[in-house]
Amino acid sequence: MVLPIVAYGDPVLRKKAKPITKDYPKLDELIDNMKETMYGAYGVGLAAPQIGLPIRLFLVDTAPFAEDDVFTEEEQDALKKFQRTFINAEIIEEEGDEWAFNEGCLSIPDVREDVFRQPKVTIKYQDEAFNEHTETFDGLIARVVQHEYDHIEGILFTDKLSSLKKRLIKGKLANISKGKIKVDYRMRFPLQKKKR
Ligand code: NI
Repeated sequence: MVLPIVAYGDPVLRKKAKPITKDYPKLDELIDNMKETMYGAYGVGLAAPQIGLPIRLFLVDTAPFAEDDVFTEEEQDALKKFQRTFINAEIIEEEGDEWAFNEGCLSIPDVREDVFRQPKVTIKYQDEAFNEHTETFDGLIARVVQHEYDHIEGILFTDKLSSLKKRLIKGKLANISKGKIKVDYRMRFPLQKKKR
C-alpha cells in the first residue's frame, strides 16, 4: 500500500525518532509499504518520520542514480545494487572534507539545493531480521544514508543551507506546508485547508 508522504512543516519531521524492537506491530508490512511508497515516488530513500512515524527506520535504494552517466561504470554498478533497510541506526563516525551535492527530499518537493556533507560515514544498524551491522559507506551512497539518517534525528537538508538560501526558499516552503504545490505522489500537508 502506498502511504501518503508527510510534507515540510509537519512536527513529526522534527522529532528525534525512537528505537524499535522486533515486536513492533506489523513491522514487515510497514517496511513493504514504505518500499512501495518510495519506489512509487521515484525516491532513493525514505525515513519513517516521512510517513508519519517517529521511529528509527529508514530505507535506501540508490538504483535510480545508476542511470546517471556522470558516474563511472563501476560507480553505476555499485549504485544499482545498493539497497538497505536501516533499523535503530547510529552514526559512529563521519570523515573527510565536506563536498557539495544537489539534494532534494520527497517531503520538500521541487526544492533542490547544494548541501555540504563529509564523504565517508560509518554507521551501526540492524537489518530487517534485526541482525547487527557496522558498515562504512562513501560517495553518493554515504550521502543518501546521511540524508535519511538526518530524518530520524529530526533534521532536514534545508536546515543545512546558508541563511541567505533559507530566506530565498522561505515562501516556497510555506507553500509546501499549505499544499500549494503540484506533486505526482500522495502527500499529507500539515497546513492544508480542509475541503468541505
Ligand atoms: Ni528526505
